[in-house]
Amino acid sequence: MTSLIIDCDPGVDDAVALLTAFGSPALDLLAVTTVGGNVPVDRTARNACILRQIAAREDVPVYRGAERPLVREPAGAGEFHGAEGLGDMAPFDPAKGCEPGGAVEAIVERVMARPAGTVSMAVLGPLTNLALALRAEPRLAEQLGPVAVMGGARAEGGNITASAEFNIWADPEAAAEVLDSACDVVLFGLDVTHQVRATEARIAGVEALDTPSARAAASMMRFSQRIEREIVGWDAPPVHDLCPVAWMLRPDLFTLRPCHIAVETGSDLTRGHTAVEFRDGVAGPLRHRWATAADADGVFDLLKGATR
Ligand code: RIB
Ligand code: CA
Repeated sequence: MTSLIIDCDPGVDDAVALLTAFGSPALDLLAVTTVGGNVPVDRTARNACILRQIAAREDVPVYRGAERPLVREPAGAGEFHGAEGLGDMAPFDPAKGCEPGGAVEAIVERVMARPAGTVSMAVLGPLTNLALALRAEPRLAEQLGPVAVMGGARAEGGNITASAEFNIWADPEAAAEVLDSACDVVLFGLDVTHQVRATEARIAGVEALDTPSARAAASMMRFSQRIEREIVGWDAPPVHDLCPVAWMLRPDLFTLRPCHIAVETGSDLTRGHTAVEFRDGVAGPLRHRWATAADADGVFDLLKGATR
């Protein structure tokens, strides 16, 4: 069983990832931590509690994290997630809210209290909370297990700018600090997440399950389907954040490649660009991993299995 902390900014694809995690008994969910990103942290924290209630998983503590990036001004993505961050779903006051204390303390406490390498993280939004936790506890990187991050782009180009993906672009300094640390980072960038798309058949398959979690997940994907058609012209939206959680459950569904990843923080034009180098001895030791391929049907089978 994988002990996991999920750091996120729900967000409609974060929501699908959370509902999959909440419905997967193979995951020992130690905490959900939240960060400002798609929408401000007061909403991402509330949304995580709402999704937890829908999945009947109030046993999993939720913590509120960073309101803003390390140095940059906060920038949202509400056009892709709805003003409240849950697509067309009307938010409500969850019966159980966040725990007292912050995300950074929760991450440090849970990781340092367990044997080295036994607690992994899935980071589905800007990397601010993890960067702050690494600053707070210098031993954290060595103590953590794999850190699966949704972020970055290489062959696919960017989605927030021509050269950068949103999570990295939103807080490039945090991403740089995490990638420069000793963390064992596995980066699920647009190159792989664009292979994991919510087609009409996949959305309908989840809708047909007709459970609270399935209805919520399908609602999020229906919203993305409409918005992506209107804004991007795509017929099937990528469910980006599902990838790191799916990897935690079934790593065999993904192809990874050793690499060295650096993040641009000095240029306004290419801010947040991820320089993914596969050649040894060019940019630095190949100590990161980059996801290049996914079995999308297998990933959606996990979603359906977790929400049935
Ligand atoms: O670029 C996609 C990422 O940005 C996803 O995590 C999505 O939720 C948004 O935060
Ligand atoms: Ca996200």
